[in-house]
Amino acid sequence: MALMSSTTFDSTSGHAGQVKFFNPGPVWVRPEVLQALGGPMMSHRSAAFSELYGRILQKLPKLFRTAGQAHTLATSATGVWEAALVSCVEGPVLACCNGAFSDKWGEMSQRLGLDTTILKAEWGKPILADDVKKRLAERKYQAVTVVHNETSTGTISDLPAIAKVVHESSDALLFADVVTSLAATRVEADAWGLDVAVCGSQKAMALPPGIAVFSVSEKALAAARAKKHRGLYLDLLDVEAFGKKSQNPTTPSLPLLYAMDVQLDHILAEGLENRWARHHAMLAAVEEWAPKAGFRFLPEKGSHSPSVSSLFPPEGVSPEELNKAMKKAGFTPGSGYGKFKATNIRIGHMGDVDVASVKNVLAAYEAEAAKILAASPAGAKA
Ligand SMILES: Cc1ncc(COP(=O)(O)O)c(C=O)c1O
Repeated sequence: MALMSSTTFDSTSGHAGQVKFFNPGPVWVRPEVLQALGGPMMSHRSAAFSELYGRILQKLPKLFRTAGQAHTLATSATGVWEAALVSCVEGPVLACCNGAFSDKWGEMSQRLGLDTTILKAEWGKPILADDVKKRLAERKYQAVTVVHNETSTGTISDLPAIAKVVHESSDALLFADVVTSLAATRVEADAWGLDVAVCGSQKAMALPPGIAVFSVSEKALAAARAKKHRGLYLDLLDVEAFGKKSQNPTTPSLPLLYAMDVQLDHILAEGLENRWARHHAMLAAVEEWAPKAGFRFLPEKGSHSPSVSSLFPPEGVSPEELNKAMKKAGFTPGSGYGKFKATNIRIGHMGDVDVASVKNVLAAYEAEAAKILAASPAGAKA
């Protein structure tokens, strides 16, 4: 991906090279953003609230690259998976599943009683556009769900290629989870035709957890208008109607909206393309380091995530022991997820973290792994 590089903007606001928090979400949050959480309480039906929320609704579509609408809901990202399905879809659904989160979205569709076909790829492998195309040729689907970046395995799928086949070979709605790709790498809601694109606050937006953001297309809203029973709490038509008044249908998370107002300015001041470039530079630092230090990526090159790396440590180093040592050294590391919990570590390199801080955590991993090996029976003999 040819992207500009950012040389002058300090994403960490004075903490360059000092970030020690590498959990793949919730992520490290700048002190200014944490401070903004303490804004004054007010009624969410007041003019002052609409002023705040109106500013957010102006800025948010820029992150999704849409000329249309983007919204927030005081749910975690999973709430908007459900909002998309209950608001717009009667079925059938094609759920693309290649990791813990995409599997869960498929399961959600089944639990909602929707006729759901699971397109399965192995954990650690991307969803392939050709496989989606084959499934779409077999049957007419009303919606396709796909997770752009599987945080569980650090695997990114080629979402624009998938979107292309969905739109060329069907009229299905395309629901994309961009939870760990938005504000970390290119996401183009309009150009790719994402009908609902959903993200959580606690990932590359570098906000505290507790609020979901999403874009919604006219096609998705039209599908919602055609659906009789959409529930109440997660009805996207209510969200749209209240959005026109710069309000939420129910009580929003005011502290998080204060923080989001501040953080959206920060993200846009860095520039989206610069932010993507920084995330790709953080991935490049891990890619350069890993083979030299004896760590191995779970996915193949080409599918490495720009926001989270899932790695097998060197032979003889237990991930659990390694992360224990990392905690002692003052870091907040990420563990493997699901099927890879016992075998992998994950390094979350997203949000406002800088390349220098990533290089520091990599050096610490290498040093701690070497200490573990030296203390092992085989190491002691050598
Ligand atoms: C790709 C992806 N989708 C969905 C989720 C679920 O998000 P939440 O816990 O905010 O509902 C996560 C959480 O880590 C995720 O990484």
